[in-house]
Amino acid sequence: MNKPPLQPSFPKASMALFERAAKVVPGGIYGHASPALTVPGAFPYYAVRAEGCRYWDADGVEYLDFMCGYGPIILGHNHAGVEDAAAHQRRLGDCFNHPAPVMVELAEYMVSLVDFADWAVFGKNGSDMTTWAVQVAREFTGRKKILKASGAYHGKDAWCSPGHGGLIEEDRRHIHNFRWNDLDALESWFKTHGEQAAAVILTPYHHPAFGDSEMPSQEFWPTVRRLCDKHGALLILDDVRAGFRLHGGGSHRFFGFEPDISCYCKAIANGYPISAALGRKEFKAAASRVFLTGSYWNGAVAMSAALACLQTLEKEKAIEKMAAAGEMLRDGLLALASKFNSPLVISGPPSMPSVRLAHDDNFERTQEFCAIAAREGLFFHPHHNWFLSVAHDGAAITESLRRAERAFVSFKSTVS
Ligand SMILES: Cc1ncc(COP(=O)(O)O)c(C=O)c1O
Repeated sequence: MNKPPLQPSFPKASMALFERAAKVVPGGIYGHASPALTVPGAFPYYAVRAEGCRYWDADGVEYLDFMCGYGPIILGHNHAGVEDAAAHQRRLGDCFNHPAPVMVELAEYMVSLVDFADWAVFGKNGSDMTTWAVQVAREFTGRKKILKASGAYHGKDAWCSPGHGGLIEEDRRHIHNFRWNDLDALESWFKTHGEQAAAVILTPYHHPAFGDSEMPSQEFWPTVRRLCDKHGALLILDDVRAGFRLHGGGSHRFFGFEPDISCYCKAIANGYPISAALGRKEFKAAASRVFLTGSYWNGAVAMSAALACLQTLEKEKAIEKMAAAGEMLRDGLLALASKFNSPLVISGPPSMPSVRLAHDDNFERTQEFCAIAAREGLFFHPHHNWFLSVAHDGAAITESLRRAERAFVSFKSTVS
């Protein structure tokens, strides 16, 4: 017999802030941070400070952080090297009438990291770059149609937003979807729409919310590349989430293919606001014709932070460290799951695992487990892939597994 579900504890300071927010902010907390999307009352609402792989909420509770700001934190919170570079630039100035020299340095450095790229531009958010890349593809080809994978997230803009509010039919008139890894569907779409195809935009592997991560089949990327080439469509890689977490030269290197334009954001500046798109020289003229700007887009502090972050990732062998920590976490969690007879499904790369309880299609039990884990000071997400950082060292993973064991014990006791 199932016992009643976990009773939310509604921490005091968080709730007081949320009640104030609800009066002056639509939805109180909106977007992906909305408490309604995790487990209301069981997860932290407001964060006050962070260090390494830990943060503290408004009630002073410490969490081992397995979301890393939903991706941007890759070296650990408050990383000294990145903070020093940002502080140095802040003393010189941030928001000028012109770009700072560091923009040129950052563009040169990113072009040297990403093998197929000849140029780079910068924005603030991932959506800035995915939307702009789609416009570049339309400008270059003179065509309208865009193909994406069903359930893939490419940002908040109208052409791809997963929301419903405020959208009109025309926003997505030329946006088409196919099921990830379904190469017959891909071929068949190109057969019908090939002459109107401006671009295919894809993440390096499929990492939908509310679903297991799915790696590309062996034939996936070669087929996508071949069909884009055959029909004159651009291949845009949305590497906003995985970029520089799987390979130091961009995720296309990890999977062995070459896109035409790739978009980056999370992880490039360890939490400072900046995104980038990089592309081949064939598309440079079209890129220069698509208007690209924003009030803060020349911000020099974020660019300095990005340069320091990317250089540190390379020096620190960050990708190997995160993969090793991710494997240790995955193996430890699977061992605990088997010990407590609560099987887990863990998919995706070890440094960005998607974790859920088996036989839990509606994520209800996973939510309950994550709510219990939160009480043990673990920020485990119930339906979005997790993120590890370089600060998640062996000691942090060991401590996390100790806390996870206590969570499994409590979780087990919710089912008699
Ligand atoms: C794959 C992917 N593309 C695009 C975006 C949009 O980025 P942003 O939220 O910075 O606009 C995200 C954000 O999570 C993402 O994961």
